[in-house]
Amino acid sequence: MAAQVNSWNEWDRLEEIVVGSADDACYEPTEPGNHPHIRNAAPGTAFPTGRKPQEAIDAANAELAGLVALLESQGVRVRRPEPHDYSKPVRTPEFSVDNQYCGVCPRDVMITIGSEIIEATMSRRGRFFEYEPYRKLVYEYWNADPAVRWTTAPKPSMTDEMYREGFWDWPLEKRHAEMHSFEFCITQDEVIFDAADMSRFGRDIMVQESMTTNRQGIQWLKRHLEPQGLRVHPLHFPLDYFPSHIDCTFVPLRPGLVLTNPDRPLSDGEEKLFLTNDWELVEAPEPTTGNDEMPTYCQSSKWLSMNVLSISPTKVIAEEREKPLHDMLDKLGFEVFPIPFRNVFEYGGSLHCATWDVRRTGDREDYFP
Ligand code: ARG
Repeated sequence: MAAQVNSWNEWDRLEEIVVGSADDACYEPTEPGNHPHIRNAAPGTAFPTGRKPQEAIDAANAELAGLVALLESQGVRVRRPEPHDYSKPVRTPEFSVDNQYCGVCPRDVMITIGSEIIEATMSRRGRFFEYEPYRKLVYEYWNADPAVRWTTAPKPSMTDEMYREGFWDWPLEKRHAEMHSFEFCITQDEVIFDAADMSRFGRDIMVQESMTTNRQGIQWLKRHLEPQGLRVHPLHFPLDYFPSHIDCTFVPLRPGLVLTNPDRPLSDGEEKLFLTNDWELVEAPEPTTGNDEMPTYCQSSKWLSMNVLSISPTKVIAEEREKPLHDMLDKLGFEVFPIPFRNVFEYGGSLHCATWDVRRTGDREDYFP
């Protein structure tokens, strides 16, 4: 019997995937690890709280259903999260938030590395329990196949001391001065990572140091994964002042090819690993939407444009309006499947974020020998 859980990279032929759901989604809470803002609003305008309007939820769900239909038409088995009441507050002895966020971005929480499922620590209070909608599926995989391993990373305290809340008010000059120190809204005392800061390249796992993953988090991943023969490489993109989740910055498309973000070059010297192993780094074209034209409650940048999902090393799903990217991918030899996805953006991401691949064909390869 083929393994139930098997995925070593971001591009091999997709067999089974979880697609998120906007059901019961709420606005992300304001907390030390996150100060969401309304786009183009006057400074100080309060971000809404509680449940999102049903029309916004329906619009996102319609586009997620479109993604499901496309994947199924390509022979991929699609699974969905369990219902979860995100309007419930989270309270631990140390902190509370009035509501949670949503189940649109399993990518942020869950990662498959070979036959192992890892639940990330998460970095934000409102997302502390976001693994719950995936637990039923995890149990299903774990019960069905004794080869499946399941790891939950240590939960951080999320106390006030774990954060550096002043970060959100740093003036631009301070951000500029600090840009090579990689200190953001989370401190370095506890193990903290979101799953979406990782990108899988076979034996090699690239991890972005960010607002959502600290050096202790990367250290935990190293000690957990390297004894299994993997290699964990921290990556840095010093021109991204609000880095979170690597999949709008550095996106591998097939062996030897990474789509890169021209506004966020790799830190000096970090390209070497790729260039000496004959990987090509290709800059994504300018997105068709400026940062000012992104949806009102969307906290991500225009670079959601490059948040593509690979069905195979030759087939890529991209957002419908990103024609310059489609053309570029076409020239690089990919078949592009454009679908509308803008109504999903305010739920934390685009096509790659809204999914968690559970099974792709292929084994662990060494692309950096
Ligand atoms: N921080 C990224 C940007 O604004 C968005 C990342 C979204 N990715 C995700 N997995 N939720 O460019």
